[in-house]
Amino acid sequence: YSLKQHNTFGIEARCDRFLEYSTADEAKAVADILRQSAQPFLIIGGGSNLLLTQDFKGIVVRSAIKGITPQKDTLRCGSGEVWDDVVDYSVKHGYYGMENLSWIPGDVGASAVQNIGAYGVEVKDFIETIEAIEIASGALQLIDAAACRYAYRQSRFKGEWKNQYLITHVTYRTQRDFQPKLDYGNIRSELERRNMTHLTATQLREVIIGIRQEKLPDPAVMGNAGSFFMNPIVERSQYEALASQYENMPHYTIDANHEKIPAGWMIDQCGWKGRTVGHAGVHDRQALVLVNRGNATGQEIVDLCRMIQRDVKEKFGITIKPEVNII
Ligand code: EPU
Repeated sequence: YSLKQHNTFGIEARCDRFLEYSTADEAKAVADILRQSAQPFLIIGGGSNLLLTQDFKGIVVRSAIKGITPQKDTLRCGSGEVWDDVVDYSVKHGYYGMENLSWIPGDVGASAVQNIGAYGVEVKDFIETIEAIEIASGALQLIDAAACRYAYRQSRFKGEWKNQYLITHVTYRTQRDFQPKLDYGNIRSELERRNMTHLTATQLREVIIGIRQEKLPDPAVMGNAGSFFMNPIVERSQYEALASQYENMPHYTIDANHEKIPAGWMIDQCGWKGRTVGHAGVHDRQALVLVNRGNATGQEIVDLCRMIQRDVKEKFGITIKPEVNII
């Protein structure tokens, strides 16, 4: 079974078997199969955070559970629902707060695994509960957001709970009054540029989509998985040493002892922006994004990743880590 349509890098790789579930009962049946089979398995979403470097000798599982169900202040969504369709629905129906997370590729299930984030907002701020089938028992469990230990692009689903659950639904708690979050980066200047004073949620969504489309390549045109690396969080002392050397270094304060430094800026400083090695490359408008320039293999992209990591380490003394799941 070809996975080319299931990874936004557009890499040709195959798996032995592909299973999709469209209801919680089907998820239960898939869990039975996984439990009884000795084969390794890989749970995927929209494939927008996935780099395949070889065929997968095992079973690939994906949710196709659809549906967005409004409740009083919450939206209960099927894990196979497209994330951006949820944001679109939310602004149209007065469920506010998630506007800054517009146009992030991927599915609802992955949003809860990966704690997707953009423009000063993370999805953990909205997740209330997650419904999932525990693979070991086949039982449906209701998991509280607090139990998931969310952090920057992190959750228990990526750590100790990896491969233990098939997520069926995610319930997001929203706000019924619109309070835009505009403090991140260039959002305010973009609003001024567009002469927007009485901002609506729909307009904020449009501005965010505009900013993203200017910087991020469309996977349908050029394969990519968004940010390839995570932004490293460093100790204050290390940050201060670097800041004295690089006066214009962008940074975000995490807490009294930590600062986050944009990996894209460091990669750019190393001269990688826009470069190509074989069929793999670094996007020319956002150095954090690695791209498939056409028929790249997963290995070519990993090789490029290693070269970039080496240069950033040499220049800044920081090891940047992939955000993308490399298989
Ligand atoms: N920068 C450069 N050169 C570059 C890229 C960035 O100098 O080539 C500088 C920018 O000028 C800015 C800073 O680095 O001062 C940060 O750049 P940007 O605001 O574009 O965001 P980012 O830190 O590179 C993160 C997320 C994105 C998210 C944006 C906006 C991660 C790993 N990435 O990128 O998320 O959309 O902020 O909030 O945290 C994703 O995860 O796939 C993703 C796209």
